[in-house]
Amino acid sequence: MLSFPLYTMILPILSFPDPRLNTVAKPVAEVDQRIATLIADMLETMYEAKGIGLAATQVNVHERLVVIDVSDERDQPLVLINPEITWYSPEKHIGEEGCLSVPEIYDKVERAVAVKVTYLDAKGKPQQLEAEEMLAVCVQHELDHLLGKVFVEYLSKLKFNRIKTKMLKIKREDEKDAEYDKLSRPKM
Ligand code: NI
Repeated sequence: MLSFPLYTMILPILSFPDPRLNTVAKPVAEVDQRIATLIADMLETMYEAKGIGLAATQVNVHERLVVIDVSDERDQPLVLINPEITWYSPEKHIGEEGCLSVPEIYDKVERAVAVKVTYLDAKGKPQQLEAEEMLAVCVQHELDHLLGKVFVEYLSKLKFNRIKTKMLKIKREDEKDAEYDKLSRPKM
């Protein structure tokens, strides 16, 4: 019997172009207490960051697990363990996407309008899902993360490089700020 942990943790989210985001995730071997804790922490992290989806890859756990909530009320969490897309609709749609690992960057990506997915739920029970529209896009985006792929890789080389440069600059500035804080803070 898996119990929901009493305390949850906000996990640090890896930022593009962190090479760990390019890791291919392995299947979850067993839906045990460790996975239950990870699910609770990932949901907390996703809600806190105001995201609609989060893949384990983004919190540096390289196992096939994603959490999603596309509801307006933020009260319909969906947990997909070892998800596999078994069908893509031939109909495609170009929509704007963003990612918690690429803050403040939004761009157009072409995706299937609908997909069918098989997965294990949070209790380890096999399930199937037919997703459409926003949910379908989110499932495709999150499952890409598990394959080590970030959505900006679908953009032109020019855009990709521009985003990469911008993100590296932000990272350098953050590191400089952190260094300054360390130096100027009294140590007792
Ligand atoms: Ni993402």
